[in-house]
Amino acid sequence: MATATLLQGMNDKQTEAVLATEGPVLIMAGAGSGKTRVLTHRIAYLIEEKHVNPWNILAITFTNKAAREMKDRVGRLLDAQAAQDVWVSTFHALCVRILRRDIEKLGYNRAFTIADPAEQLTLVKHILAELNYDPKQYDPKSILGTISNAKNDMLDPKAFEKQAGSLFQQVVAKVYTEYQRRLRSDQALDFDDLIMQTIILFQQDEETLKFYQTSSATFTLMNIRIPTKLSINWYTCWPLATKTSVLSAMLTRVSTAGAVPTLKTS
Ligand SMILES: Nc1ncnc2c1ncn2[C@@H]1O[C@H](COP(=O)(O)OP(=O)(O)OP(=O)(O)O)[C@@H](O)[C@H]1O
Ligand SMILES: [Mg+2]
Repeated sequence: MATATLLQGMNDKQTEAVLATEGPVLIMAGAGSGKTRVLTHRIAYLIEEKHVNPWNILAITFTNKAAREMKDRVGRLLDAQAAQDVWVSTFHALCVRILRRDIEKLGYNRAFTIADPAEQLTLVKHILAELNYDPKQYDPKSILGTISNAKNDMLDPKAFEKQAGSLFQQVVAKVYTEYQRRLRSDQALDFDDLIMQTIILFQQDEETLKFYQTSSATFTLMNIRIPTKLSINWYTCWPLATKTSVLSAMLTRVSTAGAVPTLKTS
């Protein structure tokens, strides 16, 4: 699609965002104001005008529904092969793909399974029973929530135990240690592990990190949806070389987002 057609009907700010291909860009705008339109047109512009390889573009969303929508809309702007080659994915699907390729370097089997929330809860209940803790006193869901927060803070069971203050946290530390041991021996990862282990993989294995930091690659495109309260969506565009920090940023709800230029499209 020609540039003129790609930009047709865009307002000034949308046009500016599509054309700003050098360096990071943060787009903040309200619901239904044309953010996805900017992102999809920006992807098409990068490919058609800047000759970026479609497979060097990563578009990240939080939900599968948003990923499907993005893929469909990119498909309407590009030829079928190019649209197929753009990597449109949720954070978790991205991490699964990265881990399926290289998780053996962390001692897991590449055929690892993913523990769903019901399985996580069953496991925590079993562990509580085995450790003789009353589930009425130590709510399994609260324990899982605390484990999840620990993983989001990149705290493994040992690190969590070290900083555990209250009695509850000390109990969580014991459960977390056993929970993680069981998951690992079952070659299973929970949703938080998908993110955490990907970051650990990038931190520990330079070869894997380099694989995703290809010098020919230009941009990583992120669609970060801050859930509920803020009711705004954040879309950022990062150099691909920062993919690891992008994953870390995701854990901190993109605390660095304020550091990049902001374009308001509405
Ligand atoms: N400048 C524009 N001129 C005409 N139509 C537009 C323009 N920008 C966006 N639209 C249309 O407005 C609708 C909403 O756009 P889009 O889905 O891109 O918004 P969004 O901000 O991503 O929405 P959501 O918050 O639901 O994700 C679409 O039908 C889109 O084609
Ligand atoms: Mg949208």
